[in-house]
Amino acid sequence: MENAVRRIGVLTSGGDAPGMNAAIRAVVRTCTYLGIECVGIRRGFNGLINGDADVLTYSRVSGLTRMGGTMLYSARSEEFRTDAGMQKAVNTCKLLGLDGIVGIGGDGTFRGLHDLAERGIAVIGIPGTIDNDIACSSYTIGYDTACNTAVECIDKLQDTMQSHERCSVVEVMGHRAGHLALYVGLSCGATAVLIPEKPVDFEEDVIEPIRRARLTGRTHYMVIVAEGVGSSYEVAAKIKEATALDTRVTVLGHIQRGGAPSSRDRVNATHMGYSAVMLLANGKTDRVVCQQNSQYMDFDIREALSMKKGIDEDKYTVMRTMIGQGTV
Ligand code: F6P
Repeated sequence: MENAVRRIGVLTSGGDAPGMNAAIRAVVRTCTYLGIECVGIRRGFNGLINGDADVLTYSRVSGLTRMGGTMLYSARSEEFRTDAGMQKAVNTCKLLGLDGIVGIGGDGTFRGLHDLAERGIAVIGIPGTIDNDIACSSYTIGYDTACNTAVECIDKLQDTMQSHERCSVVEVMGHRAGHLALYVGLSCGATAVLIPEKPVDFEEDVIEPIRRARLTGRTHYMVIVAEGVGSSYEVAAKIKEATALDTRVTVLGHIQRGGAPSSRDRVNATHMGYSAVMLLANGKTDRVVCQQNSQYMDFDIREALSMKKGIDEDKYTVMRTMIGQGTV
C-alpha cells in the first residue's frame, strides 16, 4: 500500500527530560518499519526556523534508550512565537518536504505544534517533562526518573541531617505544579510537603508536624518545598524562627532533569514515540499522545491545552495522614 506520509521531522523542545532520547529512537525505528524517512530537527523550533536538521537512520539512534538528555538538543524559541518566525518554520517544512512533525515537550511545545497545524503542517505531540503537568495525561516522560533522582539525593541528605539533628528544607522542581514534590515527599517520609495547589497554614502544616515528630522522639526533619510555592530559604528561616532548629536548604535544581531514564520512562517513551508515528501515518494531526489508566490514547491538542490538571487528591490525603494531619 502506498503511504502518503514519506518524510517526517522529530524535535524536542522546552526543558529536557530523561526518556526523550528513547522517544526519538522509537519515532525513528517506527518510521523505518513503515518506510518513512525521519529527519531530526535540532534545538527545538529554532531548528525548524533555521533548517538545522538532518536524516536520522536506524543505526544513528542505536543505544539511545539508556541515555539521558536529548540528542537533538532542546530550546525555548522566542522567534517561533512571532509571525515571521512561524512563517520561516513553515517554509523549512516545505523545503525539506516534511509531511509531519512529532514534537516532544510540554504545554509550550504543544502550543507551537498547534500553531503549525493551523498553517497546514501535520503535527503530533508527545508529553515530555519532569513536571508531569500535562492535564490530558497521567504520565509525562521524565517524571518517574526525576522522582527517583530526587529521592536518591534526599536519602543521602537524611543521613547527614540525622547525624547533626537538623531540619532539611529541600526545594524540588515542578514549575507551577506540585506533582513532583508530593510524590517525592511521600517517598521520603517527609515531615511536611508544600505545594502550590494547596494553601499553607504555616503553623498548622509545617511547625506542628515538626513538633509532633519531635514528641515521638525524632531529631531530624525533612520539609519538601515545590519551587512553585516560593522561596525555600524563607521557609527555612520561618522554621528556624519558630522552632530554633538548625536548618539547611538544598535546592536540587537541574540534577533532577539528568541521568539515565528509569525503565518506566524508557518503556512509556518508546510506546509514545511509536504511537505518534502511527497517528501521523494514519493521517491524524493536531493530536497529543497521552496515557490514562495505563492505556495509551490521543487528544486534540487545543482540547488538551484547555484542560486543567489538579493534584492527586488521594495521594495528598495519604501524605497528610502520614504526617498526622489527616482528619479522623
Ligand atoms: O519544565 C521543566 C523545568 O525543569 C521546571 O521544573 C523548571 O521550572 C524549569 O524547567 C527550569 O527551566 P530552565 O532549564 O530554563 O532553568
